[in-house]
Amino acid sequence: MVSKKKLGILLSGRGSNFEAIADSISAGRIADAVIAIVISNRAEAPGIESARKRGLPVLVVPSKGKERQAHDAEVAAILKEKQVDLICLAGYMRLLSSWFVQQFPNRILNIHPSLLPAFPGLDVHRQALEYGVKVSGCTVHFVDEHLDHGAIIVQKTVPVLDSDDEHALAARILQQEHIAYTEAINIVLEGNHEIVGRRVQSMGKTKLTAG
Ligand code: GRF
Repeated sequence: MVSKKKLGILLSGRGSNFEAIADSISAGRIADAVIAIVISNRAEAPGIESARKRGLPVLVVPSKGKERQAHDAEVAAILKEKQVDLICLAGYMRLLSSWFVQQFPNRILNIHPSLLPAFPGLDVHRQALEYGVKVSGCTVHFVDEHLDHGAIIVQKTVPVLDSDDEHALAARILQQEHIAYTEAINIVLEGNHEIVGRRVQSMGKTKLTAG
C-alpha cells in the first residue's frame, strides 16, 4: 500500500485556504494525503480553532519576541518529527529564514493573492487597484529565499471591475485561491513535474510524435 503524503500547514489568521485544502482532502480532490500538523504562530488565529474542530493535530508556536531563526528552528523540528512531505503556507504572516527554506528544498508552497511578479508583499489588493490593472488573480509558488518569488506552480486570473474596492477584489480572488491551492498540491504530490530554471513543467508521459 502506498502511504499517504503528509502535509504540514502553517497559518497565522483566518485559515480559509487551510479549510479549502482540508475540504479537498476529505472530498478526495487531493488523493492520498493527510494533514499531519497545523501550526500557527498566533494562538488566536481562527484557522487554529477550525483545525481543532476538524480533529486535526494543532500546535501553536508563538513567534512574538523570538529571533526569526530560533522560532523557525522550533517549527522545523515539529515538521521533521511529523515527517511532513510538503509544507503549505496558508496565510502565514512570517518571513521564513534562509535556514528554514534550506531545510525543505522545493517542499514549501505559498499562495499569494496577485499574479506574481506583480504586487508582492502586503496590501496586495490596494496595490492592484491603485495601479489600475484590469486583471488580477493568485499565484501558488514554491518558496525560495526571497519574498513571494519562487517558481510558479499555478496561477488563476480574475477581472478587476470598475466597481471593485479592496474587499470585493479580495473576495473574488479568494475563491480562485481555494481552487488553485488544491491544483498546485496535486501537481507537486504527483511528482510528475520538473523545475527548469524558473519554469515548473510537466514531464508528460506521452511523447509528441511527428505527424
Ligand atoms: C490569502 O489571501 C493568501 O493568498 C495570503 O493570505 C491570505 C490568507 O487567507 N497569503 P486565509 O487565512 O487562507 O483565509
